[in-house]
Amino acid sequence: MVYAMQKTIGLQGDAQMQALLVRELRRQQQTLQMIPSENYASADVLRANGSVLSNKYAEGYAGKRYYQGNEVVDEIEEVAIARAKKLFGAQHVNVQPYSGSPANMAVYHALLKPGEKILGMKLSMGGHLTHGHGVNFSSRYFKAVQYDVDEKTGLLDFEALRKIALKEKPQIIVSGATAYPRMIDFKAFDEIAQEVGAYSFADISHIAGLVVGGVHKSPLPFTDVVMSTTHKTLRGPRGAMLMCKNEDGVVVIPEGVDEKERFKLKDLARKIDSAVFPGLQGGPHMQSIAAKAVAFHEALQPEFKSYAIQVVRNAKVLALVLMEHGIKVVTEGTDTHLVLVDLRPQGKSVGREAAVALERAGIVANANTVPFDTASPFMPSGLRLGTPALTTRGMRESEMKEIGGWISAILLDLKNTELQLRVRACVEELCARFPIYTELEE
Ligand SMILES: Cc1ncc(COP(=O)(O)O)c(C=O)c1O
Repeated sequence: MVYAMQKTIGLQGDAQMQALLVRELRRQQQTLQMIPSENYASADVLRANGSVLSNKYAEGYAGKRYYQGNEVVDEIEEVAIARAKKLFGAQHVNVQPYSGSPANMAVYHALLKPGEKILGMKLSMGGHLTHGHGVNFSSRYFKAVQYDVDEKTGLLDFEALRKIALKEKPQIIVSGATAYPRMIDFKAFDEIAQEVGAYSFADISHIAGLVVGGVHKSPLPFTDVVMSTTHKTLRGPRGAMLMCKNEDGVVVIPEGVDEKERFKLKDLARKIDSAVFPGLQGGPHMQSIAAKAVAFHEALQPEFKSYAIQVVRNAKVLALVLMEHGIKVVTEGTDTHLVLVDLRPQGKSVGREAAVALERAGIVANANTVPFDTASPFMPSGLRLGTPALTTRGMRESEMKEIGGWISAILLDLKNTELQLRVRACVEELCARFPIYTELEE
C-alpha cells in the first residue's frame, strides 16, 4: 500500500498529534487486531464521531433539555433510539451512557440503594470489573457476591448460581461477561432472579453484534435491564446504551401481571433515564450518539448478519487449529467471537509474556485470567483472542487456519524471537492483502 502521509488524518495545526494519529492508523492497518473487545468502526461512524456535534451541550432528553439550540440534536437522539429499538426489539432505550462502566453504574444507581446486594460473575472467571470486583465501585458502594464457573467444564453452573441466589437474596443478578466463550442462557438467569425477587440485568457488551446478527440468543424482552457497549462486536463508536422493558409513560403490561410487577415495569424506564441524567452524567456526547445511530443503521443491513455469522465461524476455526497444535482452550472451543487460551501447561503467569511475544509478531491480543487462575490479573496465565476485527477486514476460515498456526508456534516456543520476526513479515503480507481504512487515505 502507498500512503500519502500528510493529508491522511488531516490535522493542520498540530504536527506532533498528526504524526501520532497517522502512526496509530498504520498500526491498526499493518497488524492483526485480536483483542476480542476491539473492532474497526466504519469510516462513517468515525466521521460522525468527529463531527461538529462535539460542540453541542444538550443536558436532558429530546423535548426536555436545559439549553437552547436543540432542534437537530433532538432529532439525532430520537433517530438513534428508534434504530436501536428496531435492532434489538427493545421497548425502551437510552443512548446517552458515555461508556460501559458508567452505564453499569447507572443501572445500580437506578435500582439499588447503597449497601444493597449485587450478584455477578467473578473477574477471574470471566466477569467484568463492574460486576462486583473488589477494587471497583460496584463492590465499594454495594455489597457484592460473586459466582464462579464450573471448575471441570469452565461452564456456567446454574444450580450453584441458584443456591447462592437463594442464600444471599441479592437485589440484582448480573449476567454477561468479558471472557466467557460459550453461549449465555439469559433465560435461566432471569428465572433465578424472578425466583429470589431480584432484578435481572444482562451486560451484553461483548456479544451485542452477535445478538443482533442472530447468532447468540437475546436477553430481550424478558430481562429487566440490558446494557451494551457500542464499540465491540456491534462495531460502533466508543460508548454504551441501556435497554429496559417498558416505554416511559406508555406501559405495555402483559396479561395476568400482578400489581407489584405492574409498578416495577412502569417504573423501570423512568428510573434508568433519571439515573443516567441527572443521576450520574451531565451533557450527553451528541457526536457519539450520532455515531451510535450510524452504527445501528449499519447493523440493520443484511450484511451485518453475514458478518456476525462469520465472526463466530472464524473463532471456531481458530479454536480448533490451536487445539490441533496442542494448545489448551478453555471449554474446548467457543460459541462466540472469543477464544480463551489456558497457558498453564506452558507455565503459571505466562499470559503477559505470550501477549508480548505475539505483539512482536504483529498479533495484538491480551493476557487474561483463566477460570481458577491462581496468578494475578496483571500477570495472568491465559490469553484472550477474538475475531471481530479480523472479520471486518474480510478474513475467513483459511486466514484463521494460517493465523492459528502462527499463534500456536509462538505459544509453544515463547523465547524464540527469530520466529516472532519471521511471523511478523507474514502478518504484514496478510494485512496488505486485507486492507482496512483505505477510504481514510488521501
Ligand atoms: C462485559 C463488559 N461490561 C462492561 C465493560 C466496560 O466498558 P467500558 O470499557 O466502555 O467502560 C466491558 C469492557 O470491556 C465489558 O467487557
